[in-house]
Amino acid sequence: MVIEQTLVMIKPDGVKRRLIGEIISRFEKKGLKIKALKMHWFTREEAEEFYSVHRGKPFFESLIGFITSGPVVAMVLEGDNAINVVRLMIGPTDGREAPPGTIRGDYALSKSENVVHASDSPENAKKEISILFKDNEIYEW
Ligand code: CMP
Repeated sequence: MVIEQTLVMIKPDGVKRRLIGEIISRFEKKGLKIKALKMHWFTREEAEEFYSVHRGKPFFESLIGFITSGPVVAMVLEGDNAINVVRLMIGPTDGREAPPGTIRGDYALSKSENVVHASDSPENAKKEISILFKDNEIYEW
């Protein structure tokens, strides 16, 4: 058993489409623990820091424009092997290729507007959590 924390974010398209409850519900029913939760509207600087691994890629500008186009809902989820479990639940990046039953497979038809983001490694989880949450916003329960 390896208890991990991961950062999940419902992107502006998911918020605008009123999918917040549906998406959070899936993680709760899976048994993951919500340790922190907030709505947040990224500044350009925060967004560039959050997605700094993609700086220089052809889609970077449109990614920053999209993620700052409206509020996101960010959460810290905790559980056994949470990083991989959550990535399996959200499915591959491109909603057109994500299998039915995954969040992107059920709700996205695009690679750029793909409803959710989740950390892909323990290092990125730590970095992403620290951008969105102060230590005292993550509750022990
Ligand atoms: P996400 O999991 O948030 O991580 C980086 C994001 O870049 C990814 O989801 C996509 O929404 C976005 N993106 C846009 N275009 C591409 C692309 N061509 N390849 C990979 N990611 C892309």
